[in-house]
Amino acid sequence: MLFQPLSLLFVPPNSVGMINADDELLKSEKILAHQIKLPAPQLDLEFPLMKALEQRRSIRKWKDTPLSEQEISNLLWAACGITQSGYSKAKSKRTAPSACNSQEIRVYLLMEKGVFLYQEENHELIEILPLDIREHTGTQKMMKTAPLGIVFVADLSRMTGPFLKSKEAKRLSAWVDTGFISQNVYLYCAAANLGSVVLGLVDRDKLHELMQLKEHEKIVLTQVVGHLA
Ligand SMILES: Cc1cc2nc3c(=O)[nH]c(=O)nc-3n(C[C@H](O)[C@H](O)[C@H](O)COP(=O)(O)O)c2cc1C
Repeated sequence: MLFQPLSLLFVPPNSVGMINADDELLKSEKILAHQIKLPAPQLDLEFPLMKALEQRRSIRKWKDTPLSEQEISNLLWAACGITQSGYSKAKSKRTAPSACNSQEIRVYLLMEKGVFLYQEENHELIEILPLDIREHTGTQKMMKTAPLGIVFVADLSRMTGPFLKSKEAKRLSAWVDTGFISQNVYLYCAAANLGSVVLGLVDRDKLHELMQLKEHEKIVLTQVVGHLA
């Protein structure tokens, strides 16, 4: 087993500490959640940016080995980790920009032991479902062996900025914001000798249902990551 959950949490309303107030999934439902505290990301890892850009590639073949806890920590921090804490009413800053700093893209991991939500403030994973649904990361045949699936979910309720009034503006911004995060994942993978491909070929309705997402939570893209075969 890759992770040993640190604790079995009962998450009642308003007792989720650093979890965002609009995190309905965790706030409004009394769910049993496994919390996995990730190790600190290795911010002093060195790899030339220009090399990572040169080596970034979509890779569709992986070994059947799980990523280590450290690799997942680094990958998630690179994706959209916090680089500057929020203060007063100002939100935190991330490795990825977002329209009006909405930070609407929630990153879910599909792993052998279940579906987890990345909780950036505490740099931890919250178990959403104890089910292995990795084969639904994408519809292509090779997804049957996807070692780690990432699902980028736009929480439209977070998109309240002045330029995000219309449905179209929300949709466009969610796709762009996902692109930044996905590219961060790609670059980390290039630097860490991992293979990755972002996916639009996804049965979003099926995945939405399996992940028990809400109406205002929309799947934008997914991405697979694994050790190079
Ligand atoms: C929005 C988007 C959706 C994509 N969807 C898929 C997909 O469903 N399946 C796949 O194998 N590759 C997918 N790709 C990867 C592209 O095929 C790939 O980026 C392109 O062929 C260029 O190759 P490179 O990424 O190695 O430069 C997608 C890429 C983007 C940007």
